[in-house]
Amino acid sequence: MRVVRTRAALRAALADAARPIGLVPTMGWLHEGHLSLIERARLDDASVVVSIFVNPRQFGETTDFTRYPRNEARDLEICATAGVDLVFAPSVEEVYPVGFDTTVSVGGIARPLEGAARPGHFEGVATVVAILFSLVGAERAYFGTKDAQQVRVIRRMALDLALPTEVVPCPTIREADGLAMSSRNARLSPAARAAAPVIRRALLEAHRLWEEGERSGAQLRAAMRTTLASEPLARVEYVSVADDATLAELEVVDRPALLSLAVRFDEVRLIDNEPLP
Ligand code: PAJ
Repeated sequence: MRVVRTRAALRAALADAARPIGLVPTMGWLHEGHLSLIERARLDDASVVVSIFVNPRQFGETTDFTRYPRNEARDLEICATAGVDLVFAPSVEEVYPVGFDTTVSVGGIARPLEGAARPGHFEGVATVVAILFSLVGAERAYFGTKDAQQVRVIRRMALDLALPTEVVPCPTIREADGLAMSSRNARLSPAARAAAPVIRRALLEAHRLWEEGERSGAQLRAAMRTTLASEPLARVEYVSVADDATLAELEVVDRPALLSLAVRFDEVRLIDNEPLP
């Protein structure tokens, strides 16, 4: 496995990489969720490239950026064991050279939910992913549907900008108690970690009600809030029942939909979602 840190070294390393190339963009602190993307890429592609870059542009609060967990030595070991061919682990200055002054801004799909809760977040994501797609020129790139809106935003961007990399969505990997794996879970206090599976229970409760025939968006949102309220440590940021394609809130669930939510435990913000059907 090779590790490169500059745009030039990446380009040089890719010149003789076997094709097709699969790209797995990450911010490090790798867990089984990331590994599932790497494994999928190994099945589909002849070369697997992982990027590890904590992208300052997608963090609103600087404390969230500085407190984001980092352990590159451990991440590199995990990548080597997983059969990754090439790791791109650049500095901030390498990704955003002096004078950098371009922002990729995706429209409607980036506005609700995470876009509303975290202004500028998806501009940061879309900008860095556009750079990574351009640098790597992969045939495919893999993203987790745990970040359901992120996948939609990146798809839109790749389509609109005619980037030739196919965006491949992959399922959410969970802990045994249902908590979606996330690098941020490492920052939960023991009490918050014990309470956090309420997120999954809230989504499954709404899913169950929908299966029983409930079609009112308001009722489904209320059911999620009621379940979340059973854990005093959980502070709800939003709960949503939205059109699966546009992510616009639904009054009546009469089409494919996405249940999603964002909850804070202390200063740690967690998101999860569940599709309907
Ligand atoms: P990060 O949070 O490190 O996630 C990297 C990729 O792993 C994303 O596609 C994310 O959806 C996926 N992932 C995270 N948890 C997962 C889980 N439990 N199951 C399956 N996949 C999971 O998302 C980002 O980084 C950044 O925004 C990035 C796209 C790298 C741009 O900076």
